[in-house]
Amino acid sequence: MTLIDGKKTAAEIKSEIAAEVEEMKARGERAPHLAAILVGHDGGSETYVANKVKACEECGFTSSLIRFEDDLTEERLIEEIKRLNEDDSVDGFIVQLPLPRHIDEQNIIRAIDPAKDVDGFHPINVGRMSIGLPGFVSATPAGIMQLLKRYGVETRGKHAVVLGRSNIVGKPMATLLMQKSNPGNCTVTVCHSATPNIKEICRQADIIVAALGQPGFVTEDMVKPGATVIDVGTTRVPDASRKSGWRLRGDVDFDNVAEKCEFITPVPGGVGPMTICSLMINTLIARKDNPYK
Ligand code: GUN
Repeated sequence: MTLIDGKKTAAEIKSEIAAEVEEMKARGERAPHLAAILVGHDGGSETYVANKVKACEECGFTSSLIRFEDDLTEERLIEEIKRLNEDDSVDGFIVQLPLPRHIDEQNIIRAIDPAKDVDGFHPINVGRMSIGLPGFVSATPAGIMQLLKRYGVETRGKHAVVLGRSNIVGKPMATLLMQKSNPGNCTVTVCHSATPNIKEICRQADIIVAALGQPGFVTEDMVKPGATVIDVGTTRVPDASRKSGWRLRGDVDFDNVAEKCEFITPVPGGVGPMTICSLMINTLIARKDNPYK
């Protein structure tokens, strides 16, 4: 069994990016600039955004954090997005989700210029990815593709089972795994809450990507010997032995599943660190090789 070390891989990629940014600066070019909009004070979102700002520092990027209180109107948020769309000093920006309930997320995503949508959430970027055109790909699935590539996981002709059909992970993951590329060329099955025989389907999988948000869902009896298991789950579960009172738990029963696998990602330290890394890659592309320019 090989443990896929996302923390180490993310650190390697960030240092590769930092070296490239150093070269850009040495040529007198401006460093990439990522802006993040954070609405309200959700604990998880605060942590994610703080980690994104920290990753920008590690890569030598400029970052801006724009904060609003959660009584912000949709109109005011769209106004801010339009300002960022037009600001030539900003290469890419994200609006941290979830947003307060009175704001329509899809209206917000549609307001972002696809050329600056480094989250890859805009319908134009989703559409371009699905037909294999260059654009920005959602960070978590892009990070998983990097891990498969860097660990040399064979994907061609393999049966990949994706658990979960979210717009951010499950759907783009399935699209990328079936793409005519390497990694890619998988036969893909997507399972979700209305799939009756998930266990049976998982047992046929060469690759399982678990993105359901149900801690410990993938058990030992669902995994074929020699399979590759990628765990996207990051649910906070109570843990009295921690100062915080919680720990992160994945969608895979790691302790019992790991020994059956050829490759497996841990939680934490697997997919999680790669997600922010993909955002850094997208921001560098937005600055340097923007597919829309
Ligand atoms: N909330 C959870 N994941 C993400 C993400 O990748 N991007 C944004 N903008 N919000 C999120």
